[in-house]
This record gives sequence, C-alpha cells and structure tokens, in this order.
Amino acid sequence: MQTLLIATRNEHKTREIGQMLGSGWEVSDLNSLSHAPVVEESSDTFEGNAALKALTISRVFTGLVLADDSGLVVDVLGGAPGVHSARFAGERATDIENRFLLVNNLKEKGGSEFGARFRCVMVLASKGELLGSFDGMTEGKVILEERGYEGFGYDSLFIPAGYAETFGELQPEIKNSLSHRGRALAKVLEFLRS
Ligand code: IMP
Repeated sequence: MQTLLIATRNEHKTREIGQMLGSGWEVSDLNSLSHAPVVEESSDTFEGNAALKALTISRVFTGLVLADDSGLVVDVLGGAPGVHSARFAGERATDIENRFLLVNNLKEKGGSEFGARFRCVMVLASKGELLGSFDGMTEGKVILEERGYEGFGYDSLFIPAGYAETFGELQPEIKNSLSHRGRALAKVLEFLRS
C-alpha cells in the first residue's frame, strides 16, 4: 500500500484523486490533520500555488505530498475565474455563490455558450523538496443554465468538448477519464513509475 497526503481541505478533490488511484493507495488530506498550516495561495499561476501548497505541507508532514491547484479559465472573461476559482465571489464563497457570479458575468457578455477550459497543476513534494510539476487540461464550454448534480464547483456549468452533457451530468468515472485532474494525475503516476 502506498500512502499519499493531498495538500488540500477540498474533500471533492481528495475523493476524485482517491477514486482514480484505486485500492493500492491510502489517500488522506488536511481535514484529518488539525495542526496543518493554512497556505496562502499568493501566486497568480496554478503552478506557483500548487508548488506553495506542496512545499509548505511537505515541510511539516513526512511522506509523499501531492498538491492540486485547479480552476476554470473562461476566454470571454479574460481567463477568469482562473486561479481565483475557489474564491471568485469572495474569500469564503460557496460553490453556489461562485457559479451565480460566473453566470451573471457571462450574461453581460451576451450569447449562451462560452469557450473555456479546466486546468489542473499537480505538484509532488517530499521533505520540503519539489519532485515534479504535472499539468492537465480539458477544453469545453460554459453554459448559463446549471445541469446535473454530480461533481462540485463549476461542474454543472461545464460541457467538455465532444460531449453533450455537463460534468455535473456525466458519471464520475467518465469525468475522471477526461478531466484536467485525471490527465494531471496520469502524468504523476507515470513519473512515480519511472
Ligand atoms: P483551488 O483549491 O485554489 O485549486 O481552487 C479550485 C477551485 O476550482 C474549486 O473550488 C472549483 O471552484 C474549481 N474547480 C477545480 N476543479 C474543478 C472540477 O473538477 N470541477 C469543478 N470545479 C473545479
């Protein structure tokens, strides 16, 4: 059994990563570690924030640490919400508030579909040392009406290219097989095997 600490308090990320890794892995996150530091995501890139999280947490806990920094990049909004996806509507915003703000901003632009992509950068670290950085991306479009209850975040508003359903409507296995997170994790696993 291999162990992996995910440097996140987002249980949705942990669940997806755990599902994708399968039974050979024991996955935990910061929710079970009350004394874990809160990492300020001060970088303006996914890479920078993922590295900050992985390094900070790997200095405090032993073992392999994986950080995931991810978000939705919408062309017509100049790349927003981007690295601010989790706190788009404010520091403690809920997913519902973030989606509401996104839809309102898009309504001002006119149209009903908007080119977008999900990005994910994963960084592996151990003992305060960076081991590697791995990215994944899923192209698609954002719509104005929510559809589906699967997933989290902006899933109910995002239709991946080549599909008619939103991530919120697709089964988790299908989302994982084509998601930004799944693609980044495949690179992480390839690195760990080599
Ligand atoms: P982070 O914790 O700073 O990496 O921000 C991640 C945020 O990006 C989440 O809170 C969601 O708002 C959004 N996000 C990232 N990945 C996904 C996904 O797979 N589905 C939906 N929203 C996502």
